[in-house]
Amino acid sequence: MSVQSSVILVVVLGFFGIQCQRILEIHTKTDPLDPNGMSNAGVTVSITNNEGRTCVARKLEEEGDTFLPGEIDAFHDQEIGNCSMFHVPNNELTGFQVTHEGSDGVWVLWYRILFDDGTYKTCPEGVHIDDEEVHELEASASKRLILQLTRDRGSSLTMRSLMIFLALLGLTQAARVLEIHVFTDPDSNGMDGFASLDLEIVTTDFRFCYARDMQEPGDTYLPGEIDVFHDKEIGDCLNFDVPDKIIPKIRAFHHGGDGLVVSWYRILFDDGTYILCDDHTNIDNEAIHTINCSAM
Ligand SMILES: *[C@@H]1O[C@H](CO)[C@@H](O)[C@H](O)[C@H]1NC(C)=O
Ligand SMILES: *[C@@H]1O[C@H](CO)[C@@H](O)[C@H](O)[C@H]1NC(C)=O
Repeated sequence: MSVQSSVILVVVLGFFGIQCQRILEIHTKTDPLDPNGMSNAGVTVSITNNEGRTCVARKLEEEGDTFLPGEIDAFHDQEIGNCSMFHVPNNELTGFQVTHEGSDGVWVLWYRILFDDGTYKTCPEGVHIDDEEVHELEASASKRLILQLTRDRGSSLTMRSLMIFLALLGLTQAARVLEIHVFTDPDSNGMDGFASLDLEIVTTDFRFCYARDMQEPGDTYLPGEIDVFHDKEIGDCLNFDVPDKIIPKIRAFHHGGDGLVVSWYRILFDDGTYILCDDHTNIDNEAIHTINCSAM
């Protein structure tokens, strides 16, 4: 292990080594270069905690299309079997196993486990899985962080070292927006393609970003489903800097005749954390909602 990654590990353990947590969701990102994703097959995920207990999310599936190339799927509640609310003391995973069933192989770039304490962890895969293959993956928040810090984007080695040093001192609390998640109320009708939803994120220093007409390939805004909007789907909110990770409010803009009840919006940051913005009210026509957000 390099000095850099040891330093990161110490920082990460500092951040994540305190509480006991439960699993809320399992996410997958299908490789954009996968020619057709996966449709007539499935992957089963088994997660082992540091007490040696294992939960099983059999054949990840949800309503609407799943495993489309380049898309992120969020599986939750009964979709992840007894992994839903599975206890993971110290967020420590000692095993993460993926089993493929069926003959339609898939490239999954990574799996992500979202906990109920405002954090998530990522397990990179990135290799093809097919037939009855079994892959053992390694879950680590630190890898994710290293990935973020060392992603080229013009940042030099000195810059990265400086960031790591500042992180060690606890001086950099700013994080960047990675994704916007929308949970459509299970008891609502969802929203069809003739209506659209924009989201504006406002920071404490009064800057804002705008995600216009949040859409993704496949079905969106189905009742009881979580949509994950990312990359160009969130406009200039991608990599938007949020000082202290505080978003005092977001504003939702509805257009069109088919109203929608969003239970909550979630803003996922690039540092292994997220915040929630509770809504639960109907938005229709040209209405604008201002919604408060809070850390978990
Ligand atoms: C989850 O279900 C599997 C069987 O499908 C079982 O082996 C495992 O022990 C269960 N885990 C928990 C935490 O209940
Ligand atoms: C959101 O926060 C503002 C200011 O703190 C408060 O006035 C308002 O009532 C809150 N709205 C909701 C729906 O909680």
